[in-house]
Amino acid sequence: MNKVYKEIEAIFTTGIAEEYLGEDVKLVEHMLQCGDLAKEAGAPDYLVVAALLHDIGHLLVEDAHAAQDAGIDMHHDAVGARWIEERFPATVSEPVRLHVAAKRYLVTTNHDYLSKLSHASVQTLYMQGGPLSQEEVIDFISREGAEDAVRVRLWDDLAKVRDKSTSSLKEFEPLITALARP
Ligand SMILES: [Fe+2]
Repeated sequence: MNKVYKEIEAIFTTGIAEEYLGEDVKLVEHMLQCGDLAKEAGAPDYLVVAALLHDIGHLLVEDAHAAQDAGIDMHHDAVGARWIEERFPATVSEPVRLHVAAKRYLVTTNHDYLSKLSHASVQTLYMQGGPLSQEEVIDFISREGAEDAVRVRLWDDLAKVRDKSTSSLKEFEPLITALARP
């Protein structure tokens, strides 16, 4: 079995993976739903893996739940991207790095977007800095992976359906193995 897949399997079965972090679904279900949505949309393999792993930072920080309750931003986007970039190409890590910035970008540029966000996502939005300034919008769209980050973000918002059946992590193993650095 591929070493990176094994690591992901271990991370996806840690205690925090079963936490809800204010949403209707457990983190692990949320990430699997997100990976499925990318796959169903016909996204390229690297983006399916990015969608699947986009919240892995939550599973890597100590006590993400207590931090969220205390209103502390643990920067799960940056934490996750750092972990991913050591194991996958930038096409996978950069959309993950930018998926929180993509929410801020969408709030700024799409008037309907805020009303579609979950309660938890609106709460964290302000912890994460709120809407972007004009300069930040320009900076965001110029960054590598920004467009892909927006796609991940839109699947992220939809991947919060309680009791939805999903693919198992195992079904993503071939994609992970094909993309992971040897
Ligand atoms: Fe998410």
